[in-house]
Amino acid sequence: MDKGNYTFINEESRSPSTKRKIIYICAVVVIGFGVGTLLFYFINGESFRSHGKGGSKPDTCSIPDVEKFDCHPDRPISEAECLKRGCCYIPASDLSVKDSDLTKSSFLGVPSCFFSRNHKGYEIDNIIKDADHIEATLSRNISSGFPKDVQKVHLNITFIDNVNLRIKLTDADSNRFEPDIPLHYKIVHKRNELYTVELGLDGLLSVKRKATGAIIFKTNLSQLVFSNQFLHLSSHTASSYLYGLGEQKEGILRSFNWMRYTIFNQGDLPVPHRNLYGSHPFYLVLEPNGNANGVFLVNSNAMDAVLQPTPAISLRTIGGVLDFFVMLGLSPSDVVEQYTSIVGRPFMVPYWSLGFHLCKYGYDSLDNTNETLQRNLDKGVPIDVQWNDIDFMKRYLDFTYDPVNFAKLPEFVDDLHARGMHYVAMFSPGVSNSEEPDTYPPYDEAAKLDLFVKNATGSDFEAKVWNWNLTVFPDFSNPATPSYWAKQFQKYHSELNLMEFGL
Ligand SMILES: *[C@@H]1O[C@H](CO)[C@@H](O)[C@H](O)[C@H]1NC(C)=O
Ligand SMILES: *[C@@H]1O[C@H](CO)[C@@H](O)[C@H](O)[C@H]1NC(C)=O
Ligand SMILES: *[C@@H]1O[C@H](CO)[C@@H](O)[C@H](O)[C@H]1NC(C)=O
Ligand SMILES: *[C@@H]1O[C@H](CO)[C@@H](O)[C@H](O)[C@H]1NC(C)=O
Ligand SMILES: *[C@@H]1O[C@H](CO)[C@@H](O)[C@H](O)[C@H]1NC(C)=O
Ligand SMILES: *[C@@H]1O[C@H](CO)[C@@H](O)[C@H](O)[C@H]1NC(C)=O
Repeated sequence: MDKGNYTFINEESRSPSTKRKIIYICAVVVIGFGVGTLLFYFINGESFRSHGKGGSKPDTCSIPDVEKFDCHPDRPISEAECLKRGCCYIPASDLSVKDSDLTKSSFLGVPSCFFSRNHKGYEIDNIIKDADHIEATLSRNISSGFPKDVQKVHLNITFIDNVNLRIKLTDADSNRFEPDIPLHYKIVHKRNELYTVELGLDGLLSVKRKATGAIIFKTNLSQLVFSNQFLHLSSHTASSYLYGLGEQKEGILRSFNWMRYTIFNQGDLPVPHRNLYGSHPFYLVLEPNGNANGVFLVNSNAMDAVLQPTPAISLRTIGGVLDFFVMLGLSPSDVVEQYTSIVGRPFMVPYWSLGFHLCKYGYDSLDNTNETLQRNLDKGVPIDVQWNDIDFMKRYLDFTYDPVNFAKLPEFVDDLHARGMHYVAMFSPGVSNSEEPDTYPPYDEAAKLDLFVKNATGSDFEAKVWNWNLTVFPDFSNPATPSYWAKQFQKYHSELNLMEFGL
């Protein structure tokens, strides 16, 4: 169901004028909806209550650039607001980054407003430790500047087994949203933990590899931001070899040159510096001696990860709680194994899907599809799978096909199968809500079961995607949705004898 892998090969060919869609999918971790970019979210903030006297002593602000952690990520930056947060204001020497660039680029530069050495956002208290866990309470002192600071944060660190631990920060006084996905782990009796965990009253929380002292996770909880719609935690990393934070177009090795990586499902063209279809709030870091560790943040809200040359990572999200799984490898493949054992493993792909595929948006007709395929075969190009993008559909409606231009689709698919080839028809995980009543079962049946994602006022959330009119989105976190969706495919499959579908 991960659209990214399948449509990627053909997105480039869609006409730019039709390139605006938002797709809400059941990805491995995330169902997100709601906002554009984090930086603009708080521009129209409320006036904030401040407990501070304003400003910090200059010596607490003399911090090397690489160790400055952004205290004012919400733009535009105001010196007065910065000082009210008890942070340091020193306009960054690199002023080449203009606010208007931020939407186009992911380079943020050195922050002008940063946490001082003695910043006391939260005061840590009531530390309880035993062989299996550590607990503590964080009490808000100076206001973060973001509306509705959580006044008491509960910290719960669970030692799961020798290689995995969980660090969870929640509102001590009320429940907040947590993704409803099963996480698989068992707390076991431990004998040889690979890690040591330290937590001090000054707020320092660190996880180190026992054998080498390598830093796995290190944060000063005094600088935590945990407000209703903005949560921020920075952690040092063992090196600047960090992989993950998908989905992004540029490889998987990330840059620590003050780069921002946004994690928020978006169905736009794969272009540099932009978030894509999948959300994977997970990263893997190589330690100096080649060991690897991994961190997974269980949070499905839109988020940014910012990497700076300390080396350190800052994670910022606009809702939920901060729930980290920390994995100690040893090897990179051990980390991936630990991660996938917690979140669940993907399906094994069919063997043929590893073959040669041919796909394009804009064949427009079956004849054109067939001729293109034949032309390639005639030239000796090996092809295992022919695809059609959504132009095989009637008005881009899921579970239909164009009765004129693709009239012989079933015969074509039969013919491919007879020749040992496969066919994939592309789908969108949203359906039209603008058809005549009782003419379009994919809508009618889901509407009857009330399966669509809702907007803030409780109506079906509608958006413009590919079908001509408006689209609504089956909520894949609703247990009734998968069987509804499977039923549509079964019906379509039996009508068409199609074998494979790409989402
Ligand atoms: C709370 O913040 C103020 C202003 O930064 C600071 O002077 C004070 O020491 C802090 N209180 C505690 C208990 O840390
Ligand atoms: C963490 O922050 C507190 C409060 O600002 C500060 O006193 C302490 O020195 C910091 N710890 C480290 C290791 O930087
Ligand atoms: C701490 O987390 C563990 C699971 O990771 C859970 O079993 C335990 O109940 C939590 N403790 C508190 C006080 O929330
Ligand atoms: C596809 O083309 C082949 C030969 O080029 C032809 O034999 C076959 O009938 C065509 N299939 C359809 C469905 O048009
Ligand atoms: C929710 O959807 C309904 C119907 O489209 C619309 O009238 C309403 O304005 C929407 N509410 C919000 C908050 O978007
Ligand atoms: C759907 O869109 C088409 C083309 O834009 C338009 O002609 C038609 O009236 C629309 N139908 C509805 C029900 O909105």
